Amino acid sequence: MSGCNPALSVHNLSVALDSGMQTMEVVRGVNLEVKPDSVLCLVGESGSGKTMTAMACMGQLPAGARVAGGCVKLGTAQIVPGCERIMRGIRGGTVSMIMQNPMACFHPMRTIGAHFAETLRIHQGLSRKEARQVAEERMRRVALSDPAGMLDRYPFQFSGGQLQRIMIALAMSTSPQVLIADEPTTALDASNQKRVLQLLHDVRKESGAGLLLITHDLGVVAEVADFVAVMYGGEIVETAPVKKFFHHPQHEYTRRLLESRIQLKRSARQMAARGT
Ligand SMILES: Nc1ncnc2c1ncn2[C@@H]1O[C@H](COP(=O)(O)OP(=O)(O)OP(=O)(O)O)[C@@H](O)[C@H]1O
Ligand SMILES: [Mg+2]
Repeated sequence: MSGCNPALSVHNLSVALDSGMQTMEVVRGVNLEVKPDSVLCLVGESGSGKTMTAMACMGQLPAGARVAGGCVKLGTAQIVPGCERIMRGIRGGTVSMIMQNPMACFHPMRTIGAHFAETLRIHQGLSRKEARQVAEERMRRVALSDPAGMLDRYPFQFSGGQLQRIMIALAMSTSPQVLIADEPTTALDASNQKRVLQLLHDVRKESGAGLLLITHDLGVVAEVADFVAVMYGGEIVETAPVKKFFHHPQHEYTRRLLESRIQLKRSARQMAARGT
C-alpha cells in the first residue's frame, strides 16, 4: 500500500491473553494501514483475531488481554500503547467503533439523546442544547424519521436495524478520522444489511474518514473494499488491493476462502434450479 499517509497504522501488533499460568498470543505481528477516504476490509476465519486487533486499536481490550508488542498510530501520533487518559479522549472522537451487537453498546437506562450529549460534550465540548441539534441532524442523515422523538427514547424501544443506524449516527457525530466497524451487519436481516452498509458507505464518503471493516461476507468485500487483509491463526497472511485479492490470491487460506464462496454460489444456483 503506497501513496498518502495512512489515517490508521498498526505496526507489528501482538495481543496476549493471560489465563492462569498460561499466556497465549492471539494476535501476532499484525501490520495494517487504513488510508484516509478508503476502506480496508479485514477477513478471516472465526477466532483468527480480527476483533482482538480492532479492540487493541481502540485501546479497549477485554479483561485478561493486553498489547504484548508493537504499536498503533493515528496519523503520526502513537495512540497504543499510550496513556489511558489520552486514549479516552481519542476513543469515540477521532476513532469511532461500530460493533456487531448495538444493544450491548448502549446503556439500557439512558436515552439515545443522553448518549449523544455525553459523546459530544466530551469530544467537542458542546452544551446539551447544541448536542441535541447535532444529534437530530445526524439522526436525520441516517434516515431515521422523527429524530427529536427518538432522542427521548431508550435503546430497548428500537429494532436491531434502527439501533445499528443510530450507532452509525453516533459514531459519525464527532467526525472521526477513522471508523472501525466489526461485522456491523451480521445481526441484521438481508434488507437491513444492505441499507446499513449503504449508509455507512455514504456517511463515511462524505466525511473522508478511513474505514476498517471486519466482515465475513465476501460480497460486501467486493462491493466496498479498496484493500483486503486476510487474517489466519492470529496473523495477517495476505494484504492486497481488492482486485488482486479476488483474482490473484496468494495464500493457501485465501484461495480456500474464495473457493468456498464459489461453492456456495454453485449450491444456491442448484437450489434455485430445483425450485427449493
Ligand atoms: N473476552 C475474551 N476472553 C478470552 N479470550 C477471548 C476473548 N475474546 C476472544 N478471545 C479469544 O481470542 C482469540 C481471537 O478472538 P477474536 O474474537 O479476535 O476472533 P475473531 O477473528 O473476531 O472471530 P469471529 O469472526 O468469530 O468474530 C480466540 O481464540 C478467542 O477465543
Ligand atoms: Mg470477531
